[in-house]
Amino acid sequence: MKKDAASIPIPAAPIPVPAAPIPVPATIIRTENLSITLGENQVIQDVSLSIPEKSIFAIIGQSGTGKSVLVKTIIGMIPPNSGRIWFRDTELTALSPQRMNRIRQSFGYAFQNAALFDSMTVAENLAFPLEEVLGLKNSKEIQNRVRELLEWIGLPGIESMQPDELSGGMRKRVGVARALAANPQVLFFDEPTTGLDPVLSETINNMVVRVNRELGITCVVITHDIPAAFRIADYIAFLDQGYIIAGGKPADIALSEHPLVKDFLRISFNKLGS
Ligand SMILES: Nc1ncnc2c1ncn2[C@@H]1O[C@H](COP(=O)(O)OP(=O)(O)O)[C@@H](O)[C@H]1O
Ligand SMILES: [Mg+2]
Repeated sequence: MKKDAASIPIPAAPIPVPAAPIPVPATIIRTENLSITLGENQVIQDVSLSIPEKSIFAIIGQSGTGKSVLVKTIIGMIPPNSGRIWFRDTELTALSPQRMNRIRQSFGYAFQNAALFDSMTVAENLAFPLEEVLGLKNSKEIQNRVRELLEWIGLPGIESMQPDELSGGMRKRVGVARALAANPQVLFFDEPTTGLDPVLSETINNMVVRVNRELGITCVVITHDIPAAFRIADYIAFLDQGYIIAGGKPADIALSEHPLVKDFLRISFNKLGS
């Protein structure tokens, strides 16, 4: 049977579908015009930055340029002279010390020298935040969580060791486990690889990536290992004498025209080739 033209369905014109919006990651920490003076020293100058949630955010720059002070200010250890700090929608700079203490529990901090309590065993070091921050009381539960944490950092069974029996790399890893114990939303690492050989540095850098990818924790990493920052970070802020002189994705930093950034990158990456 022949169909006449009128009965042939005309395919509907495709409905234009709007392009999917590129998801903008939410900001977990934001500073606005932060300035900090310590003694005579103007250490942080007008720093505004946004740290996207679940990212790895590296802070790089020369020694003595304000990286540690900036992080200590964000986590409430040093009060800023001016400027504001937000954690999600909460303005930290407007909080009472009590409320700040509670919010601070969302932050983990792996100190430069993996500040473990030397008079306690590894297990006691890890149990401390479980009891003090999370309020766990059941010793079996604490023991299980300690075992899980040690397995996660690849050092199972070292519960009864003392910190001074551990190698530098092991101490760093236990320091990370202790910072993870209280389930932080943001983990700050201050120079996690300084003083470690290249192989251990790689182990620690990989651990930062695992903390981020496997546990979904935002990681803020202070480092002067520039090649590592470029390898692992989603965003980089370049600090010089308290100012942010370049910020953005690694590819943006690589294109920076700032002479100091260019010098720093040239020297860091040339060293790699030598
Ligand atoms: N508690 C403090 N009192 C006075 N000055 C400080 C204090 N802490 C750090 N500074 C000074 O602030 C500057 C930045 O220090 P810091 O943030 O530790 O540098 P870095 O970039 O190496 O982490 C340095 O000049 C340091 O001497
Ligand atoms: Mg420092």
